[in-house]
Amino acid sequence: MRRDERAYDETEGRDEIAAIESQWTRIWEAQGGPQGRAERIRRREEFRIMWPYIRQFPKGSRLLDGGCGLGDWVLWLTRAGYPTIGLDISKATIAKLKQMFPDTSFAVGDIRATGFSDDSFDAYFSWGTFEHFEEGFAPVVSEAFRILKPGGLLFVSTPFDNLRHALRATFLDRVRLPPQAKPTRFYQWRLTRGELATILARHGFAVDDVRMIHRRQGIQRFLQQNLRLDPASNVTKALGVMLSPLAPKRVIAHMILAVARKPASR
Ligand SMILES: C[S@@+](CC[C@H](N)C(=O)[O-])C[C@H]1O[C@@H](n2cnc3c(N)ncnc32)[C@H](O)[C@@H]1O
Repeated sequence: MRRDERAYDETEGRDEIAAIESQWTRIWEAQGGPQGRAERIRRREEFRIMWPYIRQFPKGSRLLDGGCGLGDWVLWLTRAGYPTIGLDISKATIAKLKQMFPDTSFAVGDIRATGFSDDSFDAYFSWGTFEHFEEGFAPVVSEAFRILKPGGLLFVSTPFDNLRHALRATFLDRVRLPPQAKPTRFYQWRLTRGELATILARHGFAVDDVRMIHRRQGIQRFLQQNLRLDPASNVTKALGVMLSPLAPKRVIAHMILAVARKPASR
């Protein structure tokens, strides 16, 4: 497991969860807040992996989105007949979602201590959220296990410790001059597929698959971090589109997505 740091912003304070909340609230506000653009989830790789499992569930099966952000997944799946609860730490985002969509379930909460009863959900999905706790994965994965029904499915994505990162850490970071001592704070854990599978298995899950996803984002980050290209420029975006079918996932994929099951009987 590799640790990523980011610049320490004094206005956020030292408290980890308060910093995560203010960071995400700012990101969602910069994007214009919730807009109910639920259809866009169908273009996501996560959707293409998860939907073939979910659509086999009986209608009315209960789902949880841990770290629901703008709520698009919750809206789409609820309308498709799978009542989904959207849980997020960002109070401002959840307040807006509740106001805009009073018939859909949104709640403020921490995915490490959700307050839901044991065996509550048929499936639990969470994109890019489990990795942000410096204490590691044990609290968030054991909570997921507790609230899933026996036989329930977990879909979780985390940053991928791909070959580019491994090579950079092994060679480049050793020969580079040390950066100026700017204060930084923990940002996230980056994992290999084996590491994510081992963590889930250690907490009792049967791991079905761990897929490498988000090649285009991986290329765009490479262009930004190694070639200093502006991530918002059309050139960077076009290169991302053109190169992603060619680049090996092991080298460049940005995230991994695990599909795991809580065994039906213990
Ligand atoms: C990477 S975003 C994912 C948003 C959305 N699921 C998507 O895929 O578009 C992570 C979300 O998790 C939320 N989050 C971070 N830490 C959390 C925690 N401990 N409990 C609940 N939500 C959290 C953030 O506020 C943010 O909305």
